[in-house]
Amino acid sequence: MTKKTYSFDHFPPREGTNCVKWDLRKAYFGKSDILPLWVADMDFETPDFIVDKIRERLDHPILGYTVRPDSFNQAFINWCEKKYQWKVKKEWMNFSPGVVSAVTMAVQGFTKPGDEVITQPPVYFPFFYSIKNTGRSLIYNPLKEINGRLCMDFEQLESIITAKTKMIIISNPHNPGGSVWTKKEFIQLGEICEKHQIMVVSDEIHSDLVFHPHQHLPFAKVVPQEKVKSISCMAASKTFNLAGLSTSLVIAPDAEVMKVYNQHLQVSHLNMGNIFGSIATQAAYTEGSDWLAQLMSYLLNNRNYLHEFINTRLKPLRMLIPEATYMAWIDFSGLELSQDRLNYWLINEAKVAMNSGTLFGQGGEGYIRINFACPRSLLQEALERIEKAIKKL
Ligand SMILES: Cc1ncc(COP(=O)(O)O)c(C=O)c1O
Repeated sequence: MTKKTYSFDHFPPREGTNCVKWDLRKAYFGKSDILPLWVADMDFETPDFIVDKIRERLDHPILGYTVRPDSFNQAFINWCEKKYQWKVKKEWMNFSPGVVSAVTMAVQGFTKPGDEVITQPPVYFPFFYSIKNTGRSLIYNPLKEINGRLCMDFEQLESIITAKTKMIIISNPHNPGGSVWTKKEFIQLGEICEKHQIMVVSDEIHSDLVFHPHQHLPFAKVVPQEKVKSISCMAASKTFNLAGLSTSLVIAPDAEVMKVYNQHLQVSHLNMGNIFGSIATQAAYTEGSDWLAQLMSYLLNNRNYLHEFINTRLKPLRMLIPEATYMAWIDFSGLELSQDRLNYWLINEAKVAMNSGTLFGQGGEGYIRINFACPRSLLQEALERIEKAIKKL
């Protein structure tokens, strides 16, 4: 059978669909006439084999409470085996509406108020709120840049751990730096966590958006539970553009960890999920391989185009080449603008909406995160706007 070819060059207008990225420009940035390359969803159509399955379900007009069938679990188990050579068992799996809610439930379930929880900035900032807003103490182990890659600083990590440190939350692969953590890094991290009895929460939402030759490694595949207790949080939401369907998966290979997580899920009655999220996720993990390969090829071209554009036409800027994700972490410090002025300039003079680096915590000063999961024409226009604005500085 010939494979279907997908085009990523166009998408239907998103304005007026209540979408965060386009419809909240005015509310977030104060202007609507700016090109949005911020929120981490994609300006590509959710693939047809997913939307068709949702439509099919709508042929039955009752949308009552739902369960995830065995075929849902099996689709995910097969995906993990094929993509990460990781044998997941059904009893390791559970649900969460979102990855951030899973992270927060893990913080609440496995630490106490006053305990210390480590994050490694610059990092996906909702981790900070999962820790601080539940009364835990937020401790930073800033990443360090080595040869254009954000790396974990193990020496520094050892030096900040105290008797109160109970958990570390990692972004795997890393948002916003795009680092794909390696086996060597996980073994080192595992040794430190084992020594100090620290649990690892591994946010693996970007696990399928990895550029060749890098390979996603689930933390729990590398470091066994007998050494370090861990939870991995995964979803099809970023990969297949399903974030509005609020469906994610939690994998906890340790039975006691699963029991505690499950109690937290049940007490808030969040365990059921929604009909369309389950259907879409199952379809993604069953039929998604070919589409994903085409998506990754388009994203790789966009990543390389962006890098080349920055190096040749936006000289004072510098881009870290992401090994994964559709986010690029770009150093704007060469423009010598304060962060406030930089943010103002991007919105009002370049007319583009991107995420300010300082949102991501320490190490974000002077940086901007750009989402390059959009048609090339849109990315090109955004970059040309920045180029024009730089010329006027
Ligand atoms: C690293 C990371 N984790 C979690 C999320 C959000 O996940 P959810 O919407 O499932 O809570 C994002 C979205 O950008 C992300 O980049």
